[in-house]
Amino acid sequence: MSTKPKLSKRLQCLVDMMPPLDVVADIGCDHGYVPISLVLSSKAKIAYGIDNKVEPLKVAKKNVHLFGCEENVILLNNPLKQPIKLLDGCIIAGVGKESAVSIFHEFSPYFHEKTLLSIQVNAQIIEMRQFMKQQGYRLINEKVVFDKMHYVILHYQKGIEQADGVELWIGPHLLQQVSEHKDYLIELKKTAEHFRSIAQDVSKQTVYAMIDDYLQGIL
Ligand SMILES: C[S@@+](CC[C@H](N)C(=O)[O-])C[C@H]1O[C@@H](n2cnc3c(N)ncnc32)[C@H](O)[C@@H]1O
Repeated sequence: MSTKPKLSKRLQCLVDMMPPLDVVADIGCDHGYVPISLVLSSKAKIAYGIDNKVEPLKVAKKNVHLFGCEENVILLNNPLKQPIKLLDGCIIAGVGKESAVSIFHEFSPYFHEKTLLSIQVNAQIIEMRQFMKQQGYRLINEKVVFDKMHYVILHYQKGIEQADGVELWIGPHLLQQVSEHKDYLIELKKTAEHFRSIAQDVSKQTVYAMIDDYLQGIL
């Protein structure tokens, strides 16, 4: 048996992007591979694996035992029955934007001034970026990972977001290295081109038109 779980490229990128921290939570931990990997790669002294469904937690429990992490990985069902420690890092990944927003609200009482939030949503990333700015969070890093499709992992800390408008919607860090992110940006442009013509909502039409026109100018 291998000494570490074999992660998909997306999950590996989530783990690799985390700096070493004391207490980290993975909300929506499913099989528990991320909290286990954080502990085994010394990215977390204590990792909470939290899920709101019983079946994933049963699988996670088996995996925590298999990889011998019972002392450092704490599995919990949410809503929580008891308080947890303040979090230095929190991962919310593989869920839709609405779930990510509700997880953010549920767990924000456990965030402190420097908590690092790592967020990867499966849809509505523009809305997620807008939401985090409204909440007073600053995007400190972002990475694209290709794992059959493109995923973007966003890192946030409390602070004033300087980026705004179309650059914030596309990704201010990605725009600093356009050639490195060309494939993702081409795909985003195709999406924007499609939605600018079919979006019912005028404000959405405007957002997609601005993204499409901006990317037209740089790609
Ligand atoms: C598709 S899996 C993603 C698992 C993993 N985070 C990943 O990125 O691959 C989503 C998991 O999140 C859990 N989940 C969904 N909404 C949640 C919520 N509000 N609180 C906690 N867990 C949630 C589901 O039960 C499921 O195990």
